[in-house]
Amino acid sequence: MTDALSRHTDYGQTPLNESDVLRDPIAQARLWLDQAAESNVYEPNAMVLSTIDPDGLPSSRTVLLRSLDERGLEFFTSYTSAKGRALLAHPEVSIVFPWYLIHRQIIVRGVATPVDPAVSEAYFASRPRGSQIAATASDQSRPIASRDELERRVVELEAKYDGRDVPRPDTWGGFRVVPESIEFWQGRSSRLHDRLKFTRSGSGWTMERLQP
Ligand SMILES: Cc1cc2nc3c(=O)[nH]c(=O)nc-3n(C[C@H](O)[C@H](O)[C@H](O)COP(=O)(O)O)c2cc1C
Repeated sequence: MTDALSRHTDYGQTPLNESDVLRDPIAQARLWLDQAAESNVYEPNAMVLSTIDPDGLPSSRTVLLRSLDERGLEFFTSYTSAKGRALLAHPEVSIVFPWYLIHRQIIVRGVATPVDPAVSEAYFASRPRGSQIAATASDQSRPIASRDELERRVVELEAKYDGRDVPRPDTWGGFRVVPESIEFWQGRSSRLHDRLKFTRSGSGWTMERLQP
């Protein structure tokens, strides 16, 4: 076995007590995001998004969280990508923020819906031009014959939009995930980790401690 598969990292003594967490799990998640960023977690807003494919099997990939507030978690992608098509058919998702460096994870389960096109428009306009061109050039998730073909498309689009704004493809935009549950996981010594799970209940949330 390689060393990587046989490690036993001690996750330390930092506790997560019921009295430590805010009653609003969205506010608590924002707090943990800020702490992850302050702790130099690489890409703290990267989250692993799992969706249900048309064949019933789950698929996972990383996306970047772009907004988090009481309305939910927002990320941007191609609506015609594998995940986009999956979400439009099966909007139920699971999301993990894997902050190994600080011995924490947050797990969100919820339902995703496309955001208002005006929101996608505003976010697309704020992106670097290279990203706008790439989003336009790429028919995300579909096979392509070669890297050269993709780069040729980029060159063509750069010429086409020379001197003017790159319009947002209407197949590109945001999803907002409304959480049904949010679990805060704090690693502890000897695998006696702390897990506090919030579940939506009416207009508020209930919290329970789960066994590690
Ligand atoms: C750190 C990181 C951040 C990413 N952020 C995004 C993102 O915000 N949106 C996106 O569409 N893909 C993002 N990707 C690429 C996705 O993981 C994935 O490869 C792509 O969206 C195609 O997924 P699909 O074929 O399952 O639809 C990111 C990948 C990594 C590693």
